[in-house]
Amino acid sequence: MRKTFLTLALLALPFAANAQTKVAATPAMGWNSWNHFATHVTDKDVRAAADAIVASGMKDAGYIYVNIDDAWQGKRDASGNIVPNSKFPDMKALADYVHSKGLKIGIYSSPGPQTCGRYEGSYQHEEQDAKMYAQWGMDYLKYDLCSYGQIMRKAAPGDQAKQYEMMHAAYEKMHKALLATGRPIFFSLCQYGFDSVWKWGPTVGGNSWRTTDDIEDSYMSMSNIGFAQAGLSKYAGPGHWNDPDMLEVGNGKMKYNEYLTHMSLWAILAAPLLAGNDLSQMSAETKSILLNKDVIAIDQDPLGKQGDRVSAEGPFEVWSKPLKNGDVAVGLFNRGHDAEQMSLPLQKLGLTSSSKIHNVWNTSDNGHGPWMVPEHGVVLLIVKK
Ligand code: GAL
Repeated sequence: MRKTFLTLALLALPFAANAQTKVAATPAMGWNSWNHFATHVTDKDVRAAADAIVASGMKDAGYIYVNIDDAWQGKRDASGNIVPNSKFPDMKALADYVHSKGLKIGIYSSPGPQTCGRYEGSYQHEEQDAKMYAQWGMDYLKYDLCSYGQIMRKAAPGDQAKQYEMMHAAYEKMHKALLATGRPIFFSLCQYGFDSVWKWGPTVGGNSWRTTDDIEDSYMSMSNIGFAQAGLSKYAGPGHWNDPDMLEVGNGKMKYNEYLTHMSLWAILAAPLLAGNDLSQMSAETKSILLNKDVIAIDQDPLGKQGDRVSAEGPFEVWSKPLKNGDVAVGLFNRGHDAEQMSLPLQKLGLTSSSKIHNVWNTSDNGHGPWMVPEHGVVLLIVKK
C-alpha cells in the first residue's frame, strides 16, 4: 500500500512541477498592498484595489494578482489555525470577491514565528497554514524570512553554512506544503537575496525571489536596486524570476522621468510588475506609465529572457533584452544630473543602422538618434529585427 502511494506520488511530481511553471510562465503582474498601505491595509482597501484594477484597464493589460502583504494576521485559534485580524473579517469572502472580478488573490507569511511587522508567522504551522490559504482560495504566497533569521542564528551560532541550509529547508518545507494542497499557488520568496538566492530559488519551488532589500519611493533606492541587477539575467526564465521588489510608480516621491526609468528598467529585467500605489487614486500620468502596452509587452515577452547591461560609462548605462520575435528592447539610461545625448551602440548590440525603431515613451520620435536623455531619465526603444 505504502509502495503504491509512493509510486503514485513520484508519478505526480512532474505534473506538480509543470503546474508551478505554468503559474509563472511570465513574470507576475498585479498589485501589492505594502508600498502604499503598509500595516494599515484593510479588507476594504483590497476590494477597492480589485475594483480599480478592473476599472482602470489594468486587468485587461495583464495585472491579475491582488496581493495582501503583511498585517492581515490575528492570533491562532485553539487548534492552531491562523485567524485573520479584525481588519479582515472574512478572508474567504474577500477571496471570492477578488475572484468574481476575474482576478487572483495573494497572501503573505514568514517561515519564522513572526513576520517583519511582528504578526503571526507560519513557524511550525506550515502545512496547516498552506491548507488554510488553499481553503480560502489563495493563488499566491509571499514568504518573507523575517524572524526566521533569529531561529537560524540561535540553532547554529556562527555557522553560516548551516544557517543557510536551514533557510533552504524552511522554504522547501512551505513549497511542499503548498504542493500538497493541490492548488496551484505562486510561491514568492522574500529573503532579500541572501546566499545568492537566484542560484537555489528554483530548487525550493520559487516562482520568484527577491534579489535585494526593500525598495523605497526615491530615485536613489530604486536606481541602486535596479542597476545592481546586472549579471543576474541567466538565472531567470519561465516559471522562475528575479524580483528586484515591487513598483513605487504613482506613490509620489519620484519625478515623472524617474518613474519612467523605474518601469523601463523593471521591464528589461523581466521583473514582476506589482504596482504598489493606491489604485483608487491614480493620476492620468501614473496610469499612462503602468498601462503602457509596449513596456508591458517587453516585460511579459514569451521568450522569457531577462535583459542585462550592455555598457556603463560614467552615469550612462545601456541595457537590452531580446524578444521572441527577434526584436530587441534597448534602454538608454542617464543616471546623472544633467540631460545628455546618448546613441545606440549598434555594434555592441549586434544591430545595423537600417533597423526600424519604435520609441516607447515618445512615439513621435522614431528616428535613429542620438537622443537627449533627461536627468535620471531613459529612452526606451524597441529595435526591430
Ligand atoms: C519586508 C519585505 C517587504 C514587506 C515587509 C512587511 O521584509 O521586504 O516587502 O513585505 O517586510 O513587513
